Amino acid sequence: MKTFELITTELKRLEQAKTFKYETALQSPQRGVVKVKGKDVVMLASNNYLGLSDHPEVKKAAIEGIRKYGYGVASVRFICGTQDIHYELEKKISRFVGAEDTILFSSCFAANEGFFASLINEGFGKEQHKDVLYSDKLNHASIIDGQRLCRNEFVDKKIYNHADVEHLETLLAEDGKKDYRFRIIATDGVFSMEGDLAPLDKIVVLAKKNNAMLFMDDSHGIGVCGKTGRGTPEAKGVLKNIDVITGTLGKALGGAAGGYISGKKELISYLRQKSRPYTFSNSLPPAIVFGAMAALDLLTKDTSIVNRLHENTAYFRKEIKALGFTILEGEHPIVPIMLGEAAVARDMSVALLKAGVYIKGLWFPVVPKGEARLRTQISAALKKKDIDRALETFEKIGKKMKLI
Ligand SMILES: Cc1ncc(COP(=O)(O)O)c(C=O)c1O
Repeated sequence: MKTFELITTELKRLEQAKTFKYETALQSPQRGVVKVKGKDVVMLASNNYLGLSDHPEVKKAAIEGIRKYGYGVASVRFICGTQDIHYELEKKISRFVGAEDTILFSSCFAANEGFFASLINEGFGKEQHKDVLYSDKLNHASIIDGQRLCRNEFVDKKIYNHADVEHLETLLAEDGKKDYRFRIIATDGVFSMEGDLAPLDKIVVLAKKNNAMLFMDDSHGIGVCGKTGRGTPEAKGVLKNIDVITGTLGKALGGAAGGYISGKKELISYLRQKSRPYTFSNSLPPAIVFGAMAALDLLTKDTSIVNRLHENTAYFRKEIKALGFTILEGEHPIVPIMLGEAAVARDMSVALLKAGVYIKGLWFPVVPKGEARLRTQISAALKKKDIDRALETFEKIGKKMKLI
């Protein structure tokens, strides 16, 4: 078969296996209620947790960024792509998450992809070394890909069961006497399919005891978790105890794009030298830098947006359960509604969209077989009447499909 015939066959196979991903175009900005095919629908599928994607102050700042610093930087950071505003944003992120320093990336995917190999594949002047990585089984694809870039002769890669501190402790103990150079524990702060928080309080203790570096991706935690939105470490009472924090500017903090790594000064300086996605990819455009700074300023000045997100989340969690749906318990705005079979999740998400509620279904292979779900994501941009409208629609369709 010729190349493109093979590709076409594979696309057909994906469709038959019902794993083909369809896109639905929005005809409006990302907000609590969006336009799809000319109709207003309640958005319950976005990472726009704080509603800053279409916030007047964030948009104004982004326009100001273009006015003062132009549209694009047309360079990587170390050639001529560093503007003073990049350092300003890095400082703001460091202050917000409680770290010594921060380095920006074009995305959190790039940050995670760049982190592990930049340490593990380097000999630091020695010919031989061996490191070890302990990674949560449900870590995000970007962490998995980042670790794949580490050369096997330099690292032992170990996976611990999801959020299973005892399993992690056993693996660390087994390796206790081995002569590893770096020991690195890697976890998401919040797991995006389940909406659960990593047991960071316990992992911090294990990391210290075993002289391991603790890496945490807080993409779904920053701006969301903790009383003041400082992320999963705040929610778990371990602020300033995480060695390496990565995160995105593409979710709660305005939802545009960009990522970062925060940590000790010397680590960040080192990454500026060695991290390939930083060295070989353009720096963030001024509109995004200004927008992200405005988002952080809004959050620092006033926690009412975070409070609204937490209130909306608690309200939705309570009411959807009262309707008779089964959810994964927790406190995060990611609220998985468990439906079992893939066909049920698929049919329900289609029916909900027709009735004015935008939500995505997830099924195998994204989640285990028999655990298909609708992944609801609550936002501060939702008014009570929007949530009520969504709940009424859930009730109507749930009854029609005999699910409740
Ligand atoms: C946990 C986690 N890490 C990283 C990313 C990637 O973030 P970005 O969109 O900035 O590349 C995502 C986005 O889906 C995520 O959920």
